[in-house]
Amino acid sequence: MKTRITTLFGVEHPIMQGGMHYVGLAPLAAAVSNAGGLGVITALTLKSPQALAEEIARCRALTDKPFGVNLTFLPTVSSPDYPGYLRAIIEGGVKVVETAGRNPAPYLPPLKEAGIKVIHKCTSVRHALKAQDIGCDAVSVDGFECGGHPGEDDVPNMILLPRAAEELEIPFVASGGMADGRSLVAALALGAEGVNMGTRFIATQEAPVHDNVKQAILAASELDTRLVMRSLRNTERVMVNPAVERLLEKERALGAALKFEDIIGEVVGVYPRVMREGIMDVGAWSCGMVAGLIHDIPTCQVLIERIMGEAEDIIRRRLVGALA
Ligand SMILES: Cc1cc2nc3c(=O)[nH]c(=O)nc-3n(C[C@H](O)[C@H](O)[C@H](O)COP(=O)(O)O)c2cc1C
Repeated sequence: MKTRITTLFGVEHPIMQGGMHYVGLAPLAAAVSNAGGLGVITALTLKSPQALAEEIARCRALTDKPFGVNLTFLPTVSSPDYPGYLRAIIEGGVKVVETAGRNPAPYLPPLKEAGIKVIHKCTSVRHALKAQDIGCDAVSVDGFECGGHPGEDDVPNMILLPRAAEELEIPFVASGGMADGRSLVAALALGAEGVNMGTRFIATQEAPVHDNVKQAILAASELDTRLVMRSLRNTERVMVNPAVERLLEKERALGAALKFEDIIGEVVGVYPRVMREGIMDVGAWSCGMVAGLIHDIPTCQVLIERIMGEAEDIIRRRLVGALA
């Protein structure tokens, strides 16, 4: 399948793996890229620019296909060493950067100068248009269903994607709720030129996380995620568990008076304990509603081949057939 996204990234299939804290490391990124998609290393999981440079080298040793790096701009006071991470990306010869969070404008000039393609993840049409205006090559349109941070507008992809298609000139991928060939065909029908998947790629053989995480996703239904931190305007979709219920109880009790310090116990330092140690109830970790559509733990190769096969089948048999 050829779209403006496959051409832009130089990949075989219009399938991208979104940056994921403590999940998007070299083994997963390389597996996705080897299967013809675009794998992505998550910069901030690597605690220094040097560690990111080493992870990029590790990924390059595992694949000769293009892969990307996610650079998430956090709303934190003590900013990570973004210039250092940028240097590691540029010197590491990375071809694609997925930016997310705050406006990436300050970091675009060095990336562009190095010939790196930039795809910015947005949760609204206005942010997508802004990304287009400042010179991003593509956007990833992240609907309300998505795992992680869906923004504050609560517009699901059934509306958000065609709205993006009405307004944007640059190509975009559909993100949030994407799992299989049906998702890909629907995304294409709604105007996207590919898909970005997070949660689906956690439940793969190569995702470097504890098996408990994969089993928790398999066991979950589409009803098992919750939105937390809404009153802090930092909404995150997470897998429900006792810590998340506790967090929501605090949010209900404190209302607008809730401060980040009140919920530190449920949200800080959670990822290494969940993803590496498999302690599932220690706090809030991102997970999409798409968990309800995930029923197995294939290799990335099998998953991507299956998605492409299903998509082709739906287009050729069901859709073209429906016209007869
Ligand atoms: C466990 C987890 C961690 C994530 N961490 C990040 C992150 O660090 N930076 C980022 O830009 N997006 C992050 N995301 C969002 C994904 O890149 C992607 O946009 C999202 O998962 C798409 O929705 P889906 O889960 O329905 O596929 C994370 C998602 C999950 C599930």
